[in-house]
Amino acid sequence: MDYRKPAVFGENWSPSRYQVLPYFEWEKTVLARPDIRRVLEIGCGNGWNMSRFAQNGRVAFGLDTVPQRVALAQTHGPALLADGLRLPFAADSLDLIYIQHVLHHIGDVDRALAEVRRCLRPGGVLFLVETVEDNPIIHWGRRLYPSWLGDEINAPFTFAGLATQVADSGFRVQRAGQYSVLFWLWEIMPDQFPPLEKLTPYVVPIEHALQKVVRRLGAHCYLVAEKESFGR
Ligand SMILES: C[S@@+](CC[C@H](N)C(=O)[O-])C[C@H]1O[C@@H](n2cnc3c(N)ncnc32)[C@H](O)[C@@H]1O
Repeated sequence: MDYRKPAVFGENWSPSRYQVLPYFEWEKTVLARPDIRRVLEIGCGNGWNMSRFAQNGRVAFGLDTVPQRVALAQTHGPALLADGLRLPFAADSLDLIYIQHVLHHIGDVDRALAEVRRCLRPGGVLFLVETVEDNPIIHWGRRLYPSWLGDEINAPFTFAGLATQVADSGFRVQRAGQYSVLFWLWEIMPDQFPPLEKLTPYVVPIEHALQKVVRRLGAHCYLVAEKESFGR
């Protein structure tokens, strides 16, 4: 894929993708809220999420620890070279912090969640998308190869365990779901060989059928959580 171009559904991404990615509906709902203006993505990678936020009318800051990724993300919006464990933002200064497939690399999850909590205003939203090891292929694959694109994987989450950790870190979980029994495998392949994306509409019904029977083996989950105002 050419990550300098924005991710546009109906162009480089099949709209069918979003029939099996339930977090996308909640992402649009959150981004449409008038009180959500100051948005940060931690671990923005190539910036494709930022390009999607822009299509929903929100300019997001991105940050990442890898200079080449920050440079790519800058083609989609303001991106900084910075560490998610030390956010360069003032307390209570952000409305939404988005973290997709980053916490399993970050090393100190409690500290990362504490930083998110510090920077969100009371009532601000943490939008988390993560890979979970409830899926046996992910679990055993990571035992064999605990790395992704050269980055160490160091947090073996389960869906239930992650939801508890987020709640224990001072957030009220409002929406949560598990998905992607085998679709995670499909998501990777068109990245390597873009013409495969044309086959996505045929893969979607297979994933739907699997989710009906073995949703709890889903490899991905999302959590939409609000910063608790009191008690910490
Ligand atoms: C699997 S990629 C996900 C990229 C993007 N969020 C997405 O979903 O396409 C994980 C990203 O997290 C970044 N990352 C890892 N540790 C980080 C940290 N401590 N602070 C900020 N970014 C970090 C990596 O450099 C990488 O770009």
